[in-house]
Formats: sequence, structure tokens, C-alpha cells
Amino acid sequence: MNIASDIGTLTQHMTRLRERAERIAFVPTMGNLHDGHLALVDQATRNADAVVVSIFVNPTQFAAHEDLDTYPRTLDADLNALRDADVDLAFTPSEKDVYPHGGSTHTTIHVPKLGDGLCGRARPGHFDGVCTVVYKLFRMVRPDLAVFGEKDLQQLLIIKKMVEDLQLPIEIQSGATQRAHDGLALSSRNQYLSQAERALAPMLWQTLRECASSIDGQSSGGVQPALEAARRVLEGAGFELDYLELRTLSTLSLTDSVNEDCALFAAAKLGQTRLIDNIQIRQT
Ligand code: PAJ
Repeated sequence: MNIASDIGTLTQHMTRLRERAERIAFVPTMGNLHDGHLALVDQATRNADAVVVSIFVNPTQFAAHEDLDTYPRTLDADLNALRDADVDLAFTPSEKDVYPHGGSTHTTIHVPKLGDGLCGRARPGHFDGVCTVVYKLFRMVRPDLAVFGEKDLQQLLIIKKMVEDLQLPIEIQSGATQRAHDGLALSSRNQYLSQAERALAPMLWQTLRECASSIDGQSSGGVQPALEAARRVLEGAGFELDYLELRTLSTLSLTDSVNEDCALFAAAKLGQTRLIDNIQIRQT
């Protein structure tokens, strides 16, 4: 596996990679890789001739009070995992590479509407930071295909819209959420949980599943009571709920109707740790 820690080296490796690989897949990450990331890498490997993975903890998607400084950085272990996964090129740019003139005064990419609710409401500016860095990484790597996880479903939908609106010639694929044995969605932030919080955390997914099966096939009148019941269960157990909402996948607007493609989205704090998860409800 080659490693490029600056844009010049990346460009050299990409030129060589393009000579032998017809289709190049890209998986952007913030590192501290777990099996969720590696499942995306595996999907990329199966769908392309060469795979590039970036590791960059993007400062512009963190608010001032958030965990940028404490976000887990495990570069050596990450590179070993990528080597084992047969990745062709790891791109580990510095902040100066990505934001040569600083991040705060940078031109940003804003996808309207889709980023207004859910995590966008709790984390203003977050998705502008995500879109800006993903766009820049796309420009640097110029992949044919990029893979994003359904764990961050709002992020995935926003990236798809950005690619569509800016007419970028990149296929966006989604990868299923990878979970621990007890259902908790894998996340780099899970390691912030205390032992007691970790034991409680799978309840978020369990409650989402129960709520999804109770509203599936129901008339619209049943949705709000089911959401309220789920909310009570989670708050009773000690979760500080940010949102628990049913939204359509096409526009991410709130809905009371399960007659269209929609998903339940949840975000909750357990102690200091913010957990997010979702479940898609597909009506045939
Ligand atoms: P990060 O949180 O490192 O996630 C990188 C990719 O892995 C994202 O597409 C995310 O949805 C996916 N992922 C995370 N946990 C997953 C899980 N349990 N199962 C499946 N996929 C999972 O998301 C980001 O980084 C950043 O916002 C980024 C897109 C890299 C831009 O900075």
C-alpha cells in the first residue's frame, strides 16, 4: 500500500494508479477505523479496480465546543488495517494541505434544506464542513466511485444531493450500518462511553427497531403515539434525546405517513457522548 501525506504525492500516485486501474473507488474517513469503515473499504474493493482511503479529521465540521481535540487519532493502527484490507493508497493530508488559507474564512459548500433538520439543527454548520471537505477530497482524488455509510444517513443523502447538483461524475454508493453483537452501531465515539453507558447504549437501536415495527403498515394516526412511546422509553432509561423523527428519504421532510420511503432518525446523548442511529422503513 502506498501512503500519500500531501497533495503532490497523492497526484503522483493517482497518475500511476489510473494507468492500471479503470475504476477507482474512494472511501473518505476521519480515521480511528473500525469494522464499519472496513466494510465500506471491502465494498469499494469489490466494485472497483483500485481503492483509495483518506484519513483526515476535518476541523470545519466540528463546532468550537465539540470534540475536535479529543477525537481519537490512531494513524499507525489505521494504516495497518488498510494494508490488511488491500487498499492501494492511503491519503493522510495535513490541515494545511486541505485548508491552505485556514478553515474559518474558506469558501463553503452548502446543500440547502436537507441539512436544516436532524443533526443540522443541533450542529449548525456541520454539514457545510462535511460537504466542503468531501468536495475538496473528490477534487484531489477524482474517484469514479465513493462509498458512504448508512450509519450517517443524513450525511449520505446530503452528499448524494451535492454530487447531483454539482454534476460531479462520481457514483455514490451506500454501505449498510455495521453493528456490535448487541446492536449498537459501531462508531469512533463509542469509546467515550463509560461501562454503564456502553451497557445501556444498544437500547437506542432496540427502541428504533421496535418503533419501526409498530408503525410499519399503520395509518398516519399511529405514528406520533409510537414516537412518543419510544421517546418515553429512552428518556426513562437515561438518554437525553435530541431528536426521534420519521422523515421521508427523498426530501428529509417530517412525515406522519409510512406510505413512502422513509426512515426513523434518532440522536441522543448518553452522558457526554452523542449517539446517532436510524432505521429505514421501505414500503413496497
Ligand atoms: P467517519 O465518521 O470516520 O466515517 C467515515 C465513513 O464511515 C462515513 O461514510 C460513515 O458513514 C461510515 N461509517 C461510520 N460508522 C459506520 C458503521 N457503523 N457502519 C457503516 N459505515 C459507517 O463520516 C465521516 O467520517 C466524515 O464526516 C467524512 C465523510 C470523512 C468527512 O469528513
